[in-house]
Amino acid sequence: MRRYRIAAMGGDGIGPEVISAGLEALKVCAERDGGFALDVTDFDWGSDYYRKHGVMMPADGADQLRGYDAILFGAVGAPDIPDHVTLWGLRLAICQPLDQYANVRPTRVLPGITSPLRNVSGPELDWVIVRENSEGEYSGVGGRAHKGLPIEVAQDVSVMTRAGVQRIMRYAFKLAQSRPRKFLTVVTKSNAQRHAMVMWDEIAAEVAREFPDVTWDKMLVDAMTMRMVIKPGSLDTIVASNLHADILSDLAAALAGSLGIAPTANINPERDAPSMFEPIHGSAFDITGKGIANPVATFWTAAMMLDHLGEPAAAQRLMKAVERVTADPRLHTPDLGGQATTRQVTDAVCEALRQAND
Ligand code: IPM
Ligand code: MG
Repeated sequence: MRRYRIAAMGGDGIGPEVISAGLEALKVCAERDGGFALDVTDFDWGSDYYRKHGVMMPADGADQLRGYDAILFGAVGAPDIPDHVTLWGLRLAICQPLDQYANVRPTRVLPGITSPLRNVSGPELDWVIVRENSEGEYSGVGGRAHKGLPIEVAQDVSVMTRAGVQRIMRYAFKLAQSRPRKFLTVVTKSNAQRHAMVMWDEIAAEVAREFPDVTWDKMLVDAMTMRMVIKPGSLDTIVASNLHADILSDLAAALAGSLGIAPTANINPERDAPSMFEPIHGSAFDITGKGIANPVATFWTAAMMLDHLGEPAAAQRLMKAVERVTADPRLHTPDLGGQATTRQVTDAVCEALRQAND
């Protein structure tokens, strides 16, 4: 029996609700498979922990996670604590030391879900966005001086390193190569940002030579938003800087029908530390505790985790079960215009997993 140690962290808002739904589905998935088991350890880090201890997680938090095979993460963010405190105190405090430098965000229009774009269904919109996850606009470099005075100054410095750009480009080209279309779009803004983004473009062209079978093109980020809306079928794998991909991935999720289904993986490709898997939607305080959060993003996230752990058959079975459920509009949660609850969707996915006949 293959055993995987999973660190589960619900975090804030609807995070604990969707993570508990995800763990239920994963348990059924493992039983159905028979070849592996998950040993889950719960971590109570997040905003409640902050209210008690003044920090989002213990100082050695990232090190405590090193021994696990993967981290399943819910959401972070609370109305009464500044966002930059919760984010830098937990999510980035885990991603950065564990060097999860590739953030992978697949987008597809799942069966039964309507894209806001006319005439778009499954095959026209099937993308993976690769987000640089360790530097760029999120480097944390910068500062403020003369606080509160009329001469106050504030800087956020975007930092790009040759090594950092090279490794994310290699990851993206490799991922593009593994997909049927073997096609990568490199997002840039080198017309206006004439130092780092120019180096970004140069390194993209250098790395491209290592992948002669991958076709690629380059797109300015502003024009990219138009292309995503007007010609979604012309895109496949996409690589972008930390901030550009942050913005583009919200657009992608909306075009695929709802932020409630969008998954993400923070990957350490060298596997010298665990990777972290999370739904993109965030803590969603407006619906916390109501039992109506869409668990589909977490199920898809869990499938990405299984894939990463080396259980692709189980990952596929889980995605098929999810697709059988999304195909039925009676099982849509309110973010998709339906009335189903988290409980109903979770039960339906678990049932579909039990019935899977492969
Ligand atoms: C995301 C989120 C985060 C980000 C927020 C919560 C800071 O929007 O994962 O896309 O900007 O990275
Ligand atoms: Mg975002």
